[in-house]
Amino acid sequence: MDRPTFLMTDPAGFDVSYRINPWMKPEAWGAADAQAARAGSDALRRALEGLGAKVETVGAMKGLPDLVFPANAGVVLDGRVVPARFRHPERQGEEPVFRAVFQRLKARGIVREITDLPEGMFHEGAGDAIWDAGRRLFWCGHGPRSSRAAVSALGRIFGKETVALELATEQFYHLDTCFCPLAGGHVLYFPDAFSAEAQTTIRARIPAELRIEATPDEAAAFCVNAVNLDEHIVMARAPESLRRRLTAAGYRLTEVDLSAFILSGGAAYCMTLRLDRSSAPAAQLHAAE
Ligand code: ARG
Repeated sequence: MDRPTFLMTDPAGFDVSYRINPWMKPEAWGAADAQAARAGSDALRRALEGLGAKVETVGAMKGLPDLVFPANAGVVLDGRVVPARFRHPERQGEEPVFRAVFQRLKARGIVREITDLPEGMFHEGAGDAIWDAGRRLFWCGHGPRSSRAAVSALGRIFGKETVALELATEQFYHLDTCFCPLAGGHVLYFPDAFSAEAQTTIRARIPAELRIEATPDEAAAFCVNAVNLDEHIVMARAPESLRRRLTAAGYRLTEVDLSAFILSGGAAYCMTLRLDRSSAPAAQLHAAE
């Protein structure tokens, strides 16, 4: 695969009809939100394609509204997929659907192998296991959704270092809502989402000049939940404060109106699953001075 390739889901089945995180308010969901979801999903797809990426589409399924968040479907590296095990019954019906998708991708040579986690643990995919191409390791969230035991299990399956980061709030329940490694070596993250120990781990591993700390407003705008392709970052509409800091660090922002998905507690990163990630040493991007 020579182009970045992402999985996205047709948003026709998306709504907010149950509540498994504090952003979700089924009583507030309406027809206008469904229209906004279609527009937002289309705009995200165009933004990725505009940056040279290819998008594979999963069909919508009635009764599985969160199928629009394929980041939670599995962890993918070097053609190996480890399918998710969802914590909440509301999302467990997505498991066979995504497994069939992965099997079709395997038949087409887009993925190579499907490997299951051991029994008895939850793991919600790339939402809680984020590959850091520069450091060549997985940052792994655990707590609200994924089990701590899954962090070492993923390390064994992929043969890569996994760094466990405990998530300490209900709002930032997946690592991708509060942590985003960038191509220039920076990490955009929201410190308050993490346990004290996890904050210490982050500071010990990432030098101060590479840490870009999101404010509570920036985190609540789901801007940390971003897709990074070289110097480009695709994210939900960003407060000016964040736009300024990321631009100064050498990045170019593409903002998309993803407000309908934020009503479900998700945005750009979790609406996608990168399928072509490789652990080969990444070309280091030199951020502008
Ligand atoms: N409503 C979904 C849930 O709570 C949103 C998932 C967003 N995904 C993510 N990786 N942050 O499971």
